[in-house]
Amino acid sequence: CGIVGYVGFRNATDVLLDGLKRLEYRGYDSAGVAVRTPWGLRVVKRSGKLSALEEALEGEGLQGALGIGHTRWATHGAPTDPNAHPHTTEDGRIAVIHNGIIENYLELKEALLARGHRFSSETDSEVLAHLIEEKYRGDLFQALREALREVRGAYAVVAVHQDHEELVAARTVSPLVVGLGEGENFLASDVPALLPYTRRVIFLQDGDLVRLTREGVEVTDLEGRPLDRPVEEVDWSLEAAEKGGFPHYMLKEIYEQPWVLENTLGGRLSEERGEAELGLELDPLSVDRVHLIACGTAAYAGWYGKYLLEGLAKLPADWEVASEYRYRDPVVDGRTLAVAISQSGETIDTLEALREARRKGARALGVVNAKGSSITREVEEVLYIHAGPEIGVASTKAYTAMLAAMALLALWFARARGVLPLEEARTLIREMKKLPRLVEEALEKRPIVAHIAEKYHQAQDFLFLGRHVQAPTAYEGALKLKEISYIHAEAYPAGEMKHGPIALIDEHLPVVVLATKGPLYEKTLSNIQEVRARGGKVIAIATEGDEEIRKLAQDVVYVPEVHPLLSPIVSVVPLQLLAYEVAVLLGRDVDQPRNLAKSVTVE
Ligand code: G6P
Repeated sequence: CGIVGYVGFRNATDVLLDGLKRLEYRGYDSAGVAVRTPWGLRVVKRSGKLSALEEALEGEGLQGALGIGHTRWATHGAPTDPNAHPHTTEDGRIAVIHNGIIENYLELKEALLARGHRFSSETDSEVLAHLIEEKYRGDLFQALREALREVRGAYAVVAVHQDHEELVAARTVSPLVVGLGEGENFLASDVPALLPYTRRVIFLQDGDLVRLTREGVEVTDLEGRPLDRPVEEVDWSLEAAEKGGFPHYMLKEIYEQPWVLENTLGGRLSEERGEAELGLELDPLSVDRVHLIACGTAAYAGWYGKYLLEGLAKLPADWEVASEYRYRDPVVDGRTLAVAISQSGETIDTLEALREARRKGARALGVVNAKGSSITREVEEVLYIHAGPEIGVASTKAYTAMLAAMALLALWFARARGVLPLEEARTLIREMKKLPRLVEEALEKRPIVAHIAEKYHQAQDFLFLGRHVQAPTAYEGALKLKEISYIHAEAYPAGEMKHGPIALIDEHLPVVVLATKGPLYEKTLSNIQEVRARGGKVIAIATEGDEEIRKLAQDVVYVPEVHPLLSPIVSVVPLQLLAYEVAVLLGRDVDQPRNLAKSVTVE
């Protein structure tokens, strides 16, 4: 999942470990390094966390200024020591690390076995080491190129040979970034690993191969033709990628939401003209319908987007999780706009769903956080959410930024389509501009939320309810809780509760209800009555000043009033805090919950 490569003058082991730590947020279950020492390549790898690897390395004292490091998230083969990367050839002269999936690995492995190769792991990745070995005739770069011609699938792969002071690498689908230094060069699957050393980077593109030495970097295609890739300057500070005083990245990121919303919205709203200025070249009138595609938290942002695009802009919009969309043969034409929403810009299902929509003729817009990521390179236009690096595996600030981006997009379409009068647009914009401050006020409710967490953290199950734009909020609240506390949590559109989940309600079930002021407020109150009548415990998220709700709910968290269509951006904050507080009380690994990965680049 995490890749780091180094060639230069420093102690490679230190650079690799440091880089892997900065990529821990991607989630992993084993880790390893290979370092080129005067006595040949040395490989050390361990299942478990990086601390296990560090411990194993302590006794080794690996000396060398060239190496590769990897954190693995198991796909083929369990998370054991042998299955951890790097993988080596039998003679130990070549070592390889790999992200992604080699689709034809079984076929390749059988052929390699028949030719006498012996394997020491169950991974698909190991075939790469053996294939490169077979092709090697003194030129490692050439060997990699020839090996990859036989490989089908997704990969970011890095290989080293004990006789060469160089790293060779390639990518297709899985991300890989080159960091440029002076007398040293770097490779990583993601930018944070490079930040302590350099800000000058090359984002490799699909099908690129690269060779790095201390002195230079050479990019070619699979045929060996040289390619000219631009060197970019990344503006992320290292500090922004670190915890900044908070006990967890997730909490820091929850607290960053006011400025993130400033970033997302700032400079994009003209109150005078009643417009969202997105700098898009797309002709809004050439779009007849929108398909919002994404995974996980981002998918709920898409659901919210549907309500806004249809409600505000009168534009038919559908949302769907990408893993369904990509295989169900969706009906798409040239007047369809596919909107891929993704924090990382690397989620493989989202990327493939986007490709599917494009194959069928759709235009494509990316709503993405990570600059230069795969999705941004496969769409005509990008609306960046500008949330900064998100490290906590459970997404928080990227979600609120995505919601804000959906509001921007809906406003943009609504005005262009002439369905939103100027005065209404101005009102909405004034409300949008208040969001950073209102989210700040919502954050002040943390003590009340902590109290509620204390009361209910032993519960076995939670139910989350909301209607209209607050239905996705309920789903996101439930997702946050199950992701980081491992408590079973289910969400339902409140009006649908009576058709099934009502059977679950008893005095042991806390029910979180999104009951902010809006057109369906009264109906939501009736839903609360239904829960109470069956002994359920109600935790209401309500609008400041709503006294009535106190009579109905055991616990109330008040959030500041805002335009009902924007209320999810404020109301999700106490739900994020609830999940966080419960997880901390239960002693969970908040930033790296079990089994989850920050960015899922395998299907
Ligand atoms: C993973 C993460 C989720 C995230 C989803 C989509 O499953 O654990 O938190 O919402 O991927 O990620 P993306 O980067 O595409 O927004």
